[in-house]
Amino acid sequence: IKRITTNTLREFKQKGEKIACLTSYDYSMAKLVDGAGIEVILVGDSASNVMAGHETTLPITVDQMIYHAQSVVRAVKRALVVVDLPFGSYQGNSSEALRTAVRIMKESAAHAVKMEGGVEIEDCIKRVLSAGIPVMGHLGLTPQSIYKFGTYTVRAKEEEEARLLRSNAKLLEDLGCFGVVLEKIPARLATEVSKELEIPTIGIGAGNGCDGQILVIHDMLGINKDFSPRFLRRYADLAEVMNTAFVNYMKDVKAGDFPNEKESY
Ligand code: KIV
Ligand code: NA
Repeated sequence: IKRITTNTLREFKQKGEKIACLTSYDYSMAKLVDGAGIEVILVGDSASNVMAGHETTLPITVDQMIYHAQSVVRAVKRALVVVDLPFGSYQGNSSEALRTAVRIMKESAAHAVKMEGGVEIEDCIKRVLSAGIPVMGHLGLTPQSIYKFGTYTVRAKEEEEARLLRSNAKLLEDLGCFGVVLEKIPARLATEVSKELEIPTIGIGAGNGCDGQILVIHDMLGINKDFSPRFLRRYADLAEVMNTAFVNYMKDVKAGDFPNEKESY
Protein backbone atom coordinates (compact mmCIF):
# COMPACT_ATOMS: atom_id res chain seq x y z
CA ILE A 1 0.00 0.00 0.00
CA LYS A 2 1.20 3.48 -0.83
CA ARG A 3 1.53 5.62 2.28
CA ILE A 4 -0.11 9.00 2.66
CA THR A 5 2.51 11.74 3.10
CA THR A 6 2.32 15.48 3.62
CA ASN A 7 2.92 15.78 -0.16
CA THR A 8 -0.09 13.57 -0.86
CA LEU A 9 -2.25 15.98 1.14
CA ARG A 10 -1.05 18.96 -0.86
CA GLU A 11 -1.83 17.04 -4.08
CA PHE A 12 -5.33 16.33 -2.76
CA LYS A 13 -5.88 20.06 -2.36
CA GLN A 14 -4.55 20.75 -5.86
CA LYS A 15 -6.87 18.08 -7.30
CA GLY A 16 -9.79 19.39 -5.27
CA GLU A 17 -10.17 16.08 -3.45
CA LYS A 18 -11.29 16.51 0.15
CA ILE A 19 -9.18 15.01 2.94
CA ALA A 20 -10.89 12.76 5.51
CA CYS A 21 -9.35 12.78 9.00
CA LEU A 22 -10.35 11.19 12.31
CA THR A 23 -8.75 10.91 15.71
CA SER A 24 -7.63 7.62 17.25
CA TYR A 25 -5.89 6.81 20.51
CA ASP A 26 -5.48 3.03 20.49
CA TYR A 27 -4.45 0.10 18.29
CA SER A 28 -7.82 -1.54 17.64
CA MET A 29 -9.61 1.65 16.63
CA ALA A 30 -6.71 2.92 14.50
CA LYS A 31 -6.65 -0.39 12.62
CA LEU A 32 -10.30 0.05 11.65
CA VAL A 33 -9.87 3.71 10.73
CA ASP A 34 -6.78 3.03 8.61
CA GLY A 35 -8.43 0.00 7.02
CA ALA A 36 -11.37 2.15 5.93
CA GLY A 37 -9.00 4.43 4.05
CA ILE A 38 -9.11 7.57 6.20
CA GLU A 39 -6.13 9.65 5.09
CA VAL A 40 -5.03 11.30 8.33
CA ILE A 41 -5.22 9.90 11.86
CA LEU A 42 -4.73 12.47 14.59
CA VAL A 43 -3.60 11.23 17.97
CA GLY A 44 -5.33 14.21 19.54
CA ASP A 45 -4.90 15.51 23.04
CA SER A 46 -8.69 15.07 23.07
CA ALA A 47 -7.56 11.72 24.53
CA SER A 48 -7.50 13.73 27.75
CA ASN A 49 -11.29 14.08 27.45
CA VAL A 50 -12.51 10.92 25.78
CA MET A 51 -9.97 8.38 27.05
CA ALA A 52 -9.09 9.76 30.49
CA GLY A 53 -12.28 11.63 31.39
CA HIS A 54 -10.71 15.00 32.10
CA GLU A 55 -12.80 18.11 31.60
CA THR A 56 -10.14 19.75 29.40
CA THR A 57 -7.14 18.77 27.27
CA LEU A 58 -4.71 20.46 29.65
CA PRO A 59 -3.81 17.57 32.02
CA ILE A 60 -2.55 15.03 29.45
CA THR A 61 1.23 14.47 29.56
CA VAL A 62 3.88 13.85 26.90
CA ASP A 63 4.34 10.27 28.20
CA GLN A 64 0.62 9.62 27.88
CA MET A 65 0.54 11.07 24.34
CA ILE A 66 3.48 8.82 23.43
CA TYR A 67 1.65 5.75 24.75
CA HIS A 68 -1.41 6.58 22.63
CA ALA A 69 0.75 7.41 19.58
CA GLN A 70 2.73 4.14 19.83
CA SER A 71 -0.51 2.15 19.97
CA VAL A 72 -1.90 3.93 16.90
CA VAL A 73 1.31 3.69 14.84
CA ARG A 74 1.45 -0.10 15.37
CA ALA A 75 -1.91 -0.42 13.64
CA VAL A 76 -1.45 1.95 10.71
CA LYS A 77 -0.26 0.89 7.25
CA ARG A 78 -1.36 3.82 5.11
CA ALA A 79 -2.64 6.89 6.96
CA LEU A 80 -0.49 9.85 7.97
CA VAL A 81 -0.26 9.81 11.77
CA VAL A 82 -0.16 13.25 13.40
CA VAL A 83 0.36 13.67 17.15
CA ASP A 84 -0.67 16.66 19.28
CA LEU A 85 2.04 18.26 21.38
CA PRO A 86 0.27 18.55 24.74
CA PHE A 87 -0.28 21.72 26.74
CA GLY A 88 2.86 23.02 28.45
CA SER A 89 5.28 20.86 26.48
CA TYR A 90 6.25 23.31 23.73
CA GLN A 91 5.16 26.91 24.39
CA GLY A 92 8.00 27.79 26.80
CA ASN A 93 10.77 28.13 24.21
CA SER A 94 11.92 26.60 20.96
CA SER A 95 14.36 24.10 22.56
CA GLU A 96 11.56 22.74 24.73
CA ALA A 97 9.33 22.43 21.65
CA LEU A 98 12.06 20.63 19.72
CA ARG A 99 12.82 18.27 22.61
CA THR A 100 9.15 17.31 22.94
CA ALA A 101 8.63 16.88 19.20
CA VAL A 102 11.79 14.77 18.85
CA ARG A 103 10.75 12.55 21.78
CA ILE A 104 7.34 11.97 20.22
CA MET A 105 8.79 11.22 16.77
CA LYS A 106 11.49 8.87 18.12
CA GLU A 107 9.47 7.01 20.71
CA SER A 108 6.24 6.61 18.76
CA ALA A 109 7.44 6.60 15.13
CA ALA A 110 4.57 8.92 14.20
CA HIS A 111 4.89 11.06 11.06
CA ALA A 112 4.12 14.61 12.18
CA VAL A 113 3.13 16.80 15.12
CA LYS A 114 0.45 19.42 15.67
CA MET A 115 0.73 22.60 17.74
CA GLU A 116 -1.93 25.13 18.72
CA GLY A 117 -1.33 28.79 17.92
CA GLY A 118 0.23 31.22 15.44
CA VAL A 119 2.70 34.06 15.84
CA GLU A 120 3.00 33.51 19.60
CA ILE A 121 4.69 30.14 18.99
CA GLU A 122 6.46 31.10 15.73
CA ASP A 123 9.96 30.27 17.09
CA CYS A 124 8.81 26.89 18.40
CA ILE A 125 7.27 25.93 15.05
CA LYS A 126 10.39 27.07 13.15
CA ARG A 127 12.73 25.06 15.36
CA VAL A 128 10.67 21.87 15.07
CA LEU A 129 10.41 22.28 11.28
CA SER A 130 14.16 22.88 11.05
CA ALA A 131 14.74 19.40 12.49
CA GLY A 132 12.76 17.92 9.60
CA ILE A 133 9.62 17.24 11.60
CA PRO A 134 6.44 18.09 9.70
CA VAL A 135 4.16 20.44 11.64
CA MET A 136 0.42 20.92 11.37
CA GLY A 137 -0.99 24.16 12.75
CA HIS A 138 -4.23 24.65 14.68
CA LEU A 139 -6.12 27.96 14.81
CA GLY A 140 -9.52 29.22 15.91
CA LEU A 141 -10.87 27.48 18.99
CA THR A 142 -7.67 26.06 20.41
CA PRO A 143 -8.76 23.99 23.43
CA GLN A 144 -5.41 24.33 25.24
CA SER A 145 -6.32 28.03 25.65
CA ILE A 146 -9.82 27.38 26.99
CA TYR A 147 -9.17 29.27 30.22
CA LYS A 148 -8.15 32.32 28.19
CA PHE A 149 -11.33 32.11 26.07
CA GLY A 150 -13.55 31.14 29.01
CA THR A 151 -16.03 29.42 26.67
CA TYR A 152 -16.17 26.83 23.87
CA THR A 153 -18.21 29.12 21.58
CA VAL A 154 -17.31 30.05 17.99
CA ARG A 155 -14.09 32.06 17.58
CA ALA A 156 -13.16 34.87 15.17
CA LYS A 157 -16.69 36.21 14.71
CA GLU A 158 -15.38 39.75 15.16
CA GLU A 159 -13.30 41.51 12.52
CA GLU A 160 -10.16 41.87 14.63
CA GLU A 161 -9.87 38.22 15.64
CA ALA A 162 -10.71 37.17 12.06
CA ARG A 163 -7.91 39.36 10.70
CA LEU A 164 -5.47 37.89 13.23
CA LEU A 165 -6.52 34.36 12.26
CA ARG A 166 -5.95 35.06 8.55
CA SER A 167 -2.49 36.46 9.19
CA ASN A 168 -1.62 33.53 11.48
CA ALA A 169 -2.79 31.07 8.81
CA LYS A 170 -0.57 32.75 6.23
CA LEU A 171 2.32 32.76 8.71
CA LEU A 172 1.96 29.01 9.32
CA GLU A 173 2.06 28.40 5.58
CA ASP A 174 5.11 30.67 5.15
CA LEU A 175 6.93 28.94 8.00
CA GLY A 176 6.44 25.61 6.24
CA CYS A 177 3.57 23.89 8.05
CA PHE A 178 1.99 21.19 5.86
CA GLY A 179 -1.57 21.93 6.91
CA VAL A 180 -3.70 23.71 9.45
CA VAL A 181 -6.70 22.72 11.53
CA LEU A 182 -9.41 25.39 11.70
CA GLU A 183 -11.66 24.77 14.69
CA LYS A 184 -15.06 26.36 15.33
CA ILE A 185 -14.88 29.51 13.22
CA PRO A 186 -17.44 30.98 10.79
CA ALA A 187 -17.71 28.98 7.54
CA ARG A 188 -17.17 32.09 5.43
CA LEU A 189 -13.87 32.88 7.15
CA ALA A 190 -12.67 29.27 6.85
CA THR A 191 -13.54 29.27 3.14
CA GLU A 192 -11.59 32.48 2.57
CA VAL A 193 -8.56 31.18 4.48
CA SER A 194 -8.69 27.92 2.51
CA LYS A 195 -8.64 29.88 -0.75
CA GLU A 196 -5.77 32.07 0.44
CA LEU A 197 -3.55 29.11 1.37
CA GLU A 198 -1.82 26.49 -0.75
CA ILE A 199 -1.55 24.09 2.17
CA PRO A 200 -4.72 22.20 3.08
CA THR A 201 -7.06 23.40 5.81
CA ILE A 202 -8.74 20.74 7.94
CA GLY A 203 -11.99 21.93 9.48
CA ILE A 204 -13.95 21.00 12.57
CA GLY A 205 -16.97 23.20 13.06
CA ALA A 206 -15.57 25.39 10.29
CA GLY A 207 -18.01 24.70 7.45
CA ASN A 208 -17.75 23.07 4.07
CA GLY A 209 -15.13 25.30 2.47
CA CYS A 210 -12.17 23.62 4.14
CA ASP A 211 -9.94 21.21 2.22
CA GLY A 212 -10.66 18.40 4.66
CA GLN A 213 -12.64 17.58 7.77
CA ILE A 214 -11.84 16.02 11.12
CA LEU A 215 -14.00 14.70 13.96
CA VAL A 216 -13.20 13.11 17.30
CA ILE A 217 -13.91 9.43 16.75
CA HIS A 218 -15.88 8.85 19.97
CA ASP A 219 -18.16 11.75 19.05
CA MET A 220 -18.87 10.66 15.45
CA LEU A 221 -19.47 7.06 16.55
CA GLY A 222 -21.99 8.16 19.17
CA ILE A 223 -20.00 6.64 22.03
CA ASN A 224 -19.81 9.94 23.84
CA LYS A 225 -23.41 11.20 23.95
CA ASP A 226 -22.74 14.00 26.46
CA PHE A 227 -21.18 16.10 23.71
CA SER A 228 -23.47 17.32 20.94
CA PRO A 229 -22.40 20.61 19.39
CA ARG A 230 -24.09 21.80 16.19
CA PHE A 231 -21.09 20.82 14.03
CA LEU A 232 -21.11 17.17 15.08
CA ARG A 233 -22.69 14.59 12.76
CA ARG A 234 -23.14 11.16 14.37
CA TYR A 235 -22.49 8.29 11.96
CA ALA A 236 -23.43 5.56 14.44
CA ASP A 237 -25.11 5.07 17.78
CA LEU A 238 -22.44 2.89 19.36
CA ALA A 239 -23.55 3.83 22.87
CA GLU A 240 -26.84 2.05 22.08
CA VAL A 241 -25.16 -0.89 20.31
CA MET A 242 -22.72 -1.39 23.18
CA ASN A 243 -25.34 -1.04 25.89
CA THR A 244 -27.47 -3.71 24.18
CA ALA A 245 -24.45 -6.03 24.04
CA PHE A 246 -23.65 -5.48 27.72
CA VAL A 247 -27.26 -6.01 28.83
CA ASN A 248 -27.66 -9.17 26.72
CA TYR A 249 -24.38 -10.57 28.04
CA MET A 250 -25.46 -9.85 31.59
CA LYS A 251 -28.81 -11.57 31.01
CA ASP A 252 -27.09 -14.68 29.63
CA VAL A 253 -24.61 -14.82 32.53
CA LYS A 254 -27.33 -14.39 35.14
CA ALA A 255 -29.54 -17.00 33.44
CA GLY A 256 -26.66 -19.48 33.23
CA ASP A 257 -26.95 -19.45 29.41
CA PHE A 258 -23.39 -18.34 28.85
CA PRO A 259 -21.20 -20.21 28.19
CA ASN A 260 -23.06 -23.09 26.54
CA GLU A 261 -21.61 -26.53 25.75
CA LYS A 262 -20.03 -25.42 22.45
CA GLU A 263 -18.34 -22.55 24.21
CA SER A 264 -16.82 -24.83 26.84
CA TYR A 265 -13.84 -27.24 26.88
O1 KIV B 1 -7.34 16.78 19.95
C1 KIV B 1 -8.11 16.73 18.95
O2 KIV B 1 -8.92 15.80 18.79
C2 KIV B 1 -8.01 17.81 17.96
C3 KIV B 1 -8.96 17.80 16.81
C4 KIV B 1 -10.36 18.00 17.25
C5 KIV B 1 -8.58 18.75 15.75
O3 KIV B 1 -7.16 18.65 18.09
NA1 NA C 1 -6.05 18.65 20.04
